[in-house]
Amino acid sequence: MKKKEQYALLLKQVQGLLEGESDRVANMANVAAVLHEAFGFWWTGFYLVQGRELVLGPFQGPVACTRIPFGRGVCGTAWQQGRTVVVPDVEEFPGHIACSSASRSEIVVPVIKGKDVVAVLDIDSRELATFDARDAAGLEAIVALLAPLF
Ligand code: SME
Repeated sequence: MKKKEQYALLLKQVQGLLEGESDRVANMANVAAVLHEAFGFWWTGFYLVQGRELVLGPFQGPVACTRIPFGRGVCGTAWQQGRTVVVPDVEEFPGHIACSSASRSEIVVPVIKGKDVVAVLDIDSRELATFDARDAAGLEAIVALLAPLF
């Protein structure tokens, strides 16, 4: 199946999951699980804005860093810039925070409510250049469903 079709199906699946549940943590947990299973990513999860830091939220994968300052790493950069950041090779990204040395490429998609970033979805891959504009568009549509829960 093509990526675009896969994301269209996942969007429907997530819509269905969210219809029956309004709890933010429960829904973030299931969104992380759905994406992680569907694509076999290395790490899939959320960091939540708390003051001037991102704090680890629901995720799938190995143990991760718990706090990331504003503007730091890929996550802190996506938060600061309020836009999706695609990193084809984490070694080429200045300030990348290596929670796991196995991670080779990454995408971070902010969850935006109104004008504010309230959380980020972070996905890591063990392969280089896993993510592209199709992932950005697909993931942005999925996280948009979570924004009203904040
Ligand atoms: N690599 C991220 C840190 C989070 S872990 O990948 C789960 C970053 O540079 O922001």
